Parts: sequence; C-alpha cells; structure tokens
Amino acid sequence: MIEDRRGFLGGIASLAGVGAGLVAPVRAFAKAATGSGATPGAMIVSTWDFGAPANDAAFARGRSGGSLIDMVEAGVMVPEADPNNHSVGYGGYPDRDGHVTLDAVIMDDAGNVGAVGALEDTVHAISVARAVMEHTPHTFLVGEGATRFARDRGFPHVNLLTPEAEKAWRDWLKTQNYKPVANSETGTYGAGRPGTPGGALDHDTIGMLARDASGRMAGACTTSGMAFKMRGRLGDSPQVGSGLYVERGVGGATSTGLGEEVTRTVGTARVVASMRHGMSPQAACEEAAKHIAALRGDAIKGMQVGFLAMDTKGRIGAFCLLPGFTYAVTDAAGHTRVEKAPSLFKA
Ligand code: GLY
Repeated sequence: MIEDRRGFLGGIASLAGVGAGLVAPVRAFAKAATGSGATPGAMIVSTWDFGAPANDAAFARGRSGGSLIDMVEAGVMVPEADPNNHSVGYGGYPDRDGHVTLDAVIMDDAGNVGAVGALEDTVHAISVARAVMEHTPHTFLVGEGATRFARDRGFPHVNLLTPEAEKAWRDWLKTQNYKPVANSETGTYGAGRPGTPGGALDHDTIGMLARDASGRMAGACTTSGMAFKMRGRLGDSPQVGSGLYVERGVGGATSTGLGEEVTRTVGTARVVASMRHGMSPQAACEEAAKHIAALRGDAIKGMQVGFLAMDTKGRIGAFCLLPGFTYAVTDAAGHTRVEKAPSLFKA
C-alpha cells in the first residue's frame, strides 16, 4: 500500500499544531498563466549544453502556469526522454551487469524533497522522485522498492537499455576498463544535435535550478550515473547536499562530474553554506572545487567535478576542476545561452 505524505504529515501537523503549508507545492509561477509571457525575474540554470533545451522546457512550463517544482521537473524530463543522451534517463549507459539504473532528486526551498536511487525500467526518475516527495512519508527510495513504488504510482515499465547503449556496454565488456572521461557530456548542443553527448564512457547529470521573481527557488537533478558502474552504486546526484541543495533565503547549488568526489565532500551543501555566510555563488563554487582538490590531491587528477549555483538575487556561479564544464542560463525573457565555467586546472 502506498502511504500518502499529505495524510501522514497532516497527522503530524495537527498534532504539532503547525500549518499545512509544509507540503504545499510551490505556486510561485501560477501568475504567469495569466500574464503576457515570462514572469519578470524568473531564471533557470542547468548543467551542460544539453541543459539548454531543458531550460526552454522549464521556462515554457512556468509560462503556462507551472510552479517552480513543475518547471524543474518538466525541464529535466527532456534529457530523461532523449535516447541519444547516454548519461540521463532512457538510453543511459548501463551498469557493468547491463542494467540501466537511474538516480534523481527534486527539492524546493522549504525543505520539501524526494529522491530515488538505482531506479529501473522507468523513464522519468525525476517524476518518481517528486512522487516520493508528495506521496510518501519518506525522502528517498532506492532499488527494488523505488521501482515497485514507480509501478504502484502508475509509471509505465520501459526497458531503458537502447540498442546503442547495449552495444556500448558489450564493447566495454571486452576490456572492462573503468575510467571516467571528463566532459564527455558537452560540445554538441547548437551543432544540430541538441542533447547528444557522445563517447563510450559517457556519464553524468543534468542539475537544474529555477528562481522566481521573489527569490523563491527549486531544483532537480537526474542521471543514469556513471557508465559501467558497479551494480548498486549510487552517485552524488540523488543525495541531498551532494547532487543538489536548495535553501530558502540563500539559494541553491547542483553538481556534475565524478559523483564520489562530490559525495565525500557533500559539495552542494558546502556551496550553499558558503553563500549563507556571505560568499557570492561564484566564490562559493570555487571554494568547494578547491576544497576537493586540496583534500584529494593526485587522486582527482584527470577527473572532472563542476558546481553550478544561483542565489536568491539571481546571481550565478559556476566552477570546475578541469576546463570544459558548460552550463545553460535562461534569463527572464526566456533567452537561453550556454556559458563555459572557469576551471581550477588548465587540463
Ligand atoms: N555525477 C553523476 C554521478 O557520478 O553519478
């Protein structure tokens, strides 16, 4: 039986004498439905060049009256459904046993959060994460339980392993050399193939942050994780404070790259904490990347980690270990551009 978060928390709320606003969806963009277009001050940022069409979808959802949570969900659903994107959702490269497993988290700035890890046979991990947030008393479901929950909620069973991804996996089995490749996600948007990172060892993530005119924020992060990972491996992406963190009155941050390096430093919680203590988003992203480098030394040579942050004023920061991390920015008018993040190392 599926437990309903509203019912569960409603009981807690009445016991504690607190209001029902705890699980209320963010409705900051509802006004946009009646407006002439973009909500003034609405901004969206997301990781990599394949974030650009995702931002556009998020922006369109906001214009049609969607909340911030609706926006980030709709945005990251774009790469989740793209069979040519081998690092997110359908068409993602599998683990070393041939299973495509998805990790995702969604969060607003009131502490509402839902996440799934090692989800199988379901295209839109982000929507299952949202269902965890809205329809369970929990924040995180993993593995078989997450997949069963998805079926119970009516998400269709879909084989995520496309012929192309299966071929890449079978090729990989010949050598079984597990070596993450930095920046395999980037470089194709705008060249006629939106959202189509290439490379046999593709991995990574779309992380997205949306901010409305009043400074309210939400975020989402979803990935198929690292290609040919060990079965059962979870990366940073679904973990609150690693793949994504959003805090009211401060801002949000998301991460990409080699998840283990973000997880061990709780990277996005660190970025947001720095912002809370007065750093700009840019300085906060730089501090978190430098911390990883100082902590790990030679162990992170050749590895990529990127942080992307936005504060409640709409200031943006991005920084990475190696050159090549790109991110997409959509401004209040709905114009989207792709930017290159500065890096700590030259190569
Ligand atoms: N950053 C995605 C992962 O490591 O799974």
